[in-house]
Amino acid sequence: MEYKNLVNGEWVSSEKVIKINSPINNEEIGTIPAMTKEEADNAIKTAKIALKKWKNLAVVERAKYLYKAADILERDKDIIGNILAKEVSKGIKAAIGEVVRTADLIRYSAEEGLRTVGEIVEGGSFEAASKNKIAMVRREPMGLILAIAPFNYPVNLSASKIAPALIGGNVVLFKPPTQGAISSLLLVKAFYEAGIPAGVINTVTGRGSEIGDYLIEHPMVDFVNFTGSTGVGKRIGELAGMRPILLELGGKDGAIVAEDADLEKTAKDIVSGAFSYSGQRCTAIKRVLVVEEVADKLVQLIKIEVEKLKVGDPFENADITPLIDNKSADFIETLIKDALDKGAKALTPVKREGNLLWPVLFDEVTLDMQIAWEEPFGPILPIIRVKDVEEAIEICNTSEYGLQTSVFTRDIMRAFDIAKRLEVGTVQINNKTQRGPDNFPFLGIKGSGVGVQGIKYSIESMTKIKSIVIDW
Ligand code: NAP
Ligand code: G3P
Repeated sequence: MEYKNLVNGEWVSSEKVIKINSPINNEEIGTIPAMTKEEADNAIKTAKIALKKWKNLAVVERAKYLYKAADILERDKDIIGNILAKEVSKGIKAAIGEVVRTADLIRYSAEEGLRTVGEIVEGGSFEAASKNKIAMVRREPMGLILAIAPFNYPVNLSASKIAPALIGGNVVLFKPPTQGAISSLLLVKAFYEAGIPAGVINTVTGRGSEIGDYLIEHPMVDFVNFTGSTGVGKRIGELAGMRPILLELGGKDGAIVAEDADLEKTAKDIVSGAFSYSGQRCTAIKRVLVVEEVADKLVQLIKIEVEKLKVGDPFENADITPLIDNKSADFIETLIKDALDKGAKALTPVKREGNLLWPVLFDEVTLDMQIAWEEPFGPILPIIRVKDVEEAIEICNTSEYGLQTSVFTRDIMRAFDIAKRLEVGTVQINNKTQRGPDNFPFLGIKGSGVGVQGIKYSIESMTKIKSIVIDW
């Protein structure tokens, strides 16, 4: 099937197309346009024209389109979920769940937008001479948002940018992940069917490495909202100039396990956090830092949970499914080899069939190994034994990343103390690292990002303050 871009209310194709095959069995799912720069220019220009009317609509008017789009998504959850599962090799239950989660995200964005109001500031609260001054502080849209999304949540992470942008009065130029573009376009189709005015959402498919720079540097783009790898994020930071950006990037989330943790629960949480969607989550647990005193016990419990994981077909709801491409599997293999060469102990079989990797649990991982620091984005979990929690905090804070960390201890005050000292965006206490629920703030610091997502925070990020002062 030939999928098209939505530009100014019309579905348009391009001369060149990109074939999208399933990572599961290489079945061809369809083709997407490889948009040219000239075509992208038109998409940008028509979006900018649409901005004037869209931003002047009452928020309640904008909200109506979001509510309708959410209902359409919910109606088509099985159709979209099936294509999503095929396109990014995600378990069918999780794929359909992603679509439902997205309908909820869009509804919540509409509601949050209705309550994103300004404030009045009194001059007299600063100095007597200004007692008759008041500032009316309100929020206005940034303008044209360039939204760029990653492959692993082609519907939810795309909507996490689009919905808050729209309710905030912005228009969106959306660049979907190439692998995941079909699912992303079906998300946009829901807004189209909801009657979104022409130009308010325009899409531009094509390889980011070919068209990305052009879009980011385009003078009519007012804001870049990106989720993806740290490497691309850094490039966006360099190219964006004075334009504001929101970057959600890579991670190396740790799980710190203290000697007093509930080890049975901890093991289950760690395995779920590390291996959901085959570890292809920025918030996956990507290393365990366990105090030596309880390490043997914890490792055994984790091994039992890993051995329960089902490997295979996303349509049979396997836990571990084929990775997004062979290049990713090759990268993970280099990390496995490096770890083994340097003395790590593989407690589960090291096995690969094409881009399907069996889950690997490594014990006795040392800090000279790449797996201790790199983001594998796959089903591999290193155990680093530490002498105490202090050492664990030190290792976590040394990371180039700063997305999330889990802390497992029965002593809640101790957990808060550790949380205060960790250099990350979010600390999960006695649970796995995760982005959801979508109304929570979601952010990374250091190499994990710039700015804050999470519905309310995304609306605030993509709107700017206008202060109107009057003497009365
Ligand atoms: P990616 O390779 O960085 O791609 C992300 C998006 O950026 C895709 O739409 C991609 O287009 C586009 N892109 C690629 N090169 C570009 C360029 N030079 N200029 C502009 N756009 C460009 O990341 P991914 O492989 O999709 O996702 C995996 C990575 O993203 C991991 O590092 C993961 O940790 C991170 N991630 C972070 C979060 C978070 O919320 N913090 C969430 C998910 C993923 P193409 O698809 O055409 O290449
Ligand atoms: O890597 C994508 C990130 O958004 C993960 O989301 O909810 O699975 O933690 P979640």
